[in-house]
Amino acid sequence: MTSGAWAHARIERCLVTGGLGFIGSHFIRLLLRERPDIEVINLDAMTYAGNPLNLHDLEDDSRYRFVHGNIADRTVVRAAIGAGVDAIVNFAAESHVDRSLRDATAFCATNVCGTQVLLDAAREYRVQRFLQVSTDEVYGDIPEGESTEDDPLRPRSPYSASKAAADLLALAHYESYDAPVLITRGSNTYGPYQYPEKLIPLFVTNLIDDQLVPVYGDGMQVRDWLYVEDHARGILHVLEHGEPGNVYNLGGNNPRTNLDITHMLLKACGRSPLTHVHHVGDRPGHDRRYAMNTEKARALGWEPGMPFVAGLHRTIDWYKANERWWRPLKSGDFAEYYALQYQAAPVKVPITTGGIA
Ligand code: DAU
Repeated sequence: MTSGAWAHARIERCLVTGGLGFIGSHFIRLLLRERPDIEVINLDAMTYAGNPLNLHDLEDDSRYRFVHGNIADRTVVRAAIGAGVDAIVNFAAESHVDRSLRDATAFCATNVCGTQVLLDAAREYRVQRFLQVSTDEVYGDIPEGESTEDDPLRPRSPYSASKAAADLLALAHYESYDAPVLITRGSNTYGPYQYPEKLIPLFVTNLIDDQLVPVYGDGMQVRDWLYVEDHARGILHVLEHGEPGNVYNLGGNNPRTNLDITHMLLKACGRSPLTHVHHVGDRPGHDRRYAMNTEKARALGWEPGMPFVAGLHRTIDWYKANERWWRPLKSGDFAEYYALQYQAAPVKVPITTGGIA
């Protein structure tokens, strides 16, 4: 099928996996808002990062159905597909690099084997489109320049290795079976409803509580930040207009050092870098820089719309206004994880301004 032919096709029933997570929940809300005739099935395992509150507003929407289950379970996947779907969008994944460095078992089970089960089911049910949601981390550390979609994959953490494996399985399905597979590789995403283990929500919620923020190493690592609704729109755009067998980079083209972000957050929360920054030991194998070329997705008609400062302030305001959402998430298991992850003594680093040289 050519992209032109697909551009006229309509998705009537879409299986979204991992739709209770951060980007997945924004994607489902976008889909139901912008495609009023669509039916959405959300298959989610409800791990620690999947939160029913992320989609509480859809409980009474007859176009939305929730199925509790794991993508690595073939029976569950078949039941979720039911009478058939036109498209599968796979967000289901273990996503946190630090957790993968402690134990990568769940990363292999869900990100690799789970994707394989979904790809097989898509083939069995002749699903017209399969979109695998991937990450810029599969390209590895990029000291200079930008990664393009055809660049070799050089993942350097267990997390990114598991995502790269899934990308290769998806592409192998395209090559071996002509399966209509698409891949999006997103950059660091931020916005409301992000689980507070990630840099921005962790730091904002710590600062609201007058706690220190743990910066890994010298904080001069560069990430490319993309607002979550822009990321969700990019995925929908590729789903509807992308060419099967292709990869599309979805980056914000908005590079920032972690220290830059930290200083912006400190300022917005009325805290001082002198009292609230805690430099801790670096993440093992920490990639210094990611940067992607996004011309291919832009040529398809997508571009990010949210200016970074506005998006960051919207995010900070959301966390300030939604303590009832995040406060329970930071207790219990998370509190134990936090203590373990950040127990090391502070390290001394040279003072920097945080900007990109
Ligand atoms: O680049 C896309 C990726 O972005 C996604 O594929 C991942 O699923 C997602 O978790 C995210 O990965 P990162 O490792 O870049 O995100 P994280 O928020 O964990 O860290 C962002 C940067 O901030 C990274 O350089 C590590 C640093 N950091 C993070 C935490 C949690 C700190 O300095 N201190 C921290 O406590």
